Amino acid sequence: MEVDREQLISVARKALGMAIAPLSGYLVGAALLTAQGKIYSGCNIENASLSLSLCAERVALLKALSEGEKEFKAIAIVSSGLPLCPPCGACRQMLYEFAPHIEVIMTNPKGRVISTKIEELLPLPFDH
Ligand code: THU
Repeated sequence: MEVDREQLISVARKALGMAIAPLSGYLVGAALLTAQGKIYSGCNIENASLSLSLCAERVALLKALSEGEKEFKAIAIVSSGLPLCPPCGACRQMLYEFAPHIEVIMTNPKGRVISTKIEELLPLPFDH
């Protein structure tokens, strides 16, 4: 199955509209594609107790995992800030653990779609 990157980005953009980010004002949306072609979206959700805030990528991943999904092909990430929104370190670790070969799709500052693999973003991962 081919990954429709534009479609994933557009689902991520829609999810960005749900972001709850009163503390940072930085809105993030993610769209996670399963091996069966289903898409789970996520947005960042901030909390007054700052460390409880969740990134959009992990919200999408946890939604999918809690529905029994096991295999993932790609994740698109968009933000209200700079066009390029690479996943934070914690999200890289979680993506790697549950989807060690996942494609990570972002848009570059010119609005072009760019894609990489989690292995590129998290070299020498902690794994046991
Ligand atoms: N954020 C994400 O949702 N994903 C990332 O990969 C980076 C950061 C969120 C967390 C917080 O709500 C806001 O962006 C500012 O850091």
